[in-house]
Amino acid sequence: MPIRALAAFHDFHPKPENFHDAVVEGLSKPRKTLPCKFFYDAEGSRLFEQICALDEYYPTRTDLALLETHAGEIAELVGSGCHLVEFGSGASVKVRVLLGALDAPRSYVPIDISRDHLIGAAAGLAREFPGLPVVAVCADYTQAMDFPDLGEGPRVGFFPGSTIGNFTPDEATAFLDQAHGWLLGGGLVIGVDLRKDADTLHAAYNDTAGVTAAFNKNLLARCNRELDSAFDLDAFRHEAVYVSDKGRVEMHLVSTRDQLVPVGEHTFAFSDGETIHTENSYKYTVEGFCDMARRTGFRPIRTWTDPEDLFSVHYLAAA
Ligand code: AVI
Repeated sequence: MPIRALAAFHDFHPKPENFHDAVVEGLSKPRKTLPCKFFYDAEGSRLFEQICALDEYYPTRTDLALLETHAGEIAELVGSGCHLVEFGSGASVKVRVLLGALDAPRSYVPIDISRDHLIGAAAGLAREFPGLPVVAVCADYTQAMDFPDLGEGPRVGFFPGSTIGNFTPDEATAFLDQAHGWLLGGGLVIGVDLRKDADTLHAAYNDTAGVTAAFNKNLLARCNRELDSAFDLDAFRHEAVYVSDKGRVEMHLVSTRDQLVPVGEHTFAFSDGETIHTENSYKYTVEGFCDMARRTGFRPIRTWTDPEDLFSVHYLAAA
C-alpha cells in the first residue's frame, strides 16, 4: 500500500469537478468557453508532458535550469528545517532539485486534488528521500481550508511552472493571499513566465509538431469520451494568439464551418469562425509580479531570470 510510505495523509475530500455542467455552462455563454482545468485527463496529461519537452516550449526547461543553477542560493534564503509545501504537486521532477538542496527539511507536503495520483507520487518521493516525512494533502488549494498542523518550523511553498499564469489576475491575487496566510513566517518559491516578443510566444503555443493543437483539441475528444457529445474534431482548429495589451496568450478552438453539436440533451450551434476560448496564459514583468505579490502581503526577496529573460523564479517572504 503506497499510503503506508507516507508520514501522514490529510484528505479534505475536494468536491469532484463536474465536467458535464462546466461544458454546458461554458458553451451556453455568448462567447463560448471551456475551463482549462479540464485539459488534464490521462490523455491531456500525457500530451502536456510532450509539450514540456518541445524545443519551442521554453518554460519547463528554463524553470528547471533556474532552479538547478540557483538551488544553493534558494536553500540559503529558505533556511534550515522548513516544511516544503508544493501546490499542485503532480509528478514533478522540479521539487526533487529543491529537496536535494535544502538543509534538513522537516517534511515535504504535496497538495493535489487528484487522490490516486497524489498518493502514488508522494509514496514514490518518500522512497527516494528516506528519512524525509512526506505529508500528503488531498485538497483543492484554490479553496479555503484549515491548513494541517505540521508542527514546529516554517512552511515554505513551492509553485513552479508558471501555473499561476493560468489564473486571471484576480484569481492569482486570491491564491497568493491565501498562500500568504498558510505560509506566514516562511516563504514561497514560485516560477513565473515573463512578457516577451510575440514570435517566441507564438512558437511556444503553436508548435510545428502539433502537440499543443492536439492538447487543445483533446478537450473536445474528452467531451466525446465522457459526455454524450459528437464533436467532429476535424471541424475545429487550434489557435493561440498573444494579446499584448492583456499580457496573455489565449488558446481557442475555432469552428471551421457552421455546425450543430449535440452534447447530451443539449445542442450547441457554432458559426463558421466562432471560437471556444479554452485557456489564458498570463505573462508578467518582474516588477508587475512583485507588485501583485506585495499587495497580498509577501515581500519579494530575490528574483532569478535566465540570460534571455524568458522566465523568472522568485523567492517571496511571508513576513
Ligand atoms: C500549465 N501551464 C502553465 C501551461 C501554460 O504554458 O500556460 C499550459 C499550456 N498550455 C499550452 N501549452 C502549455
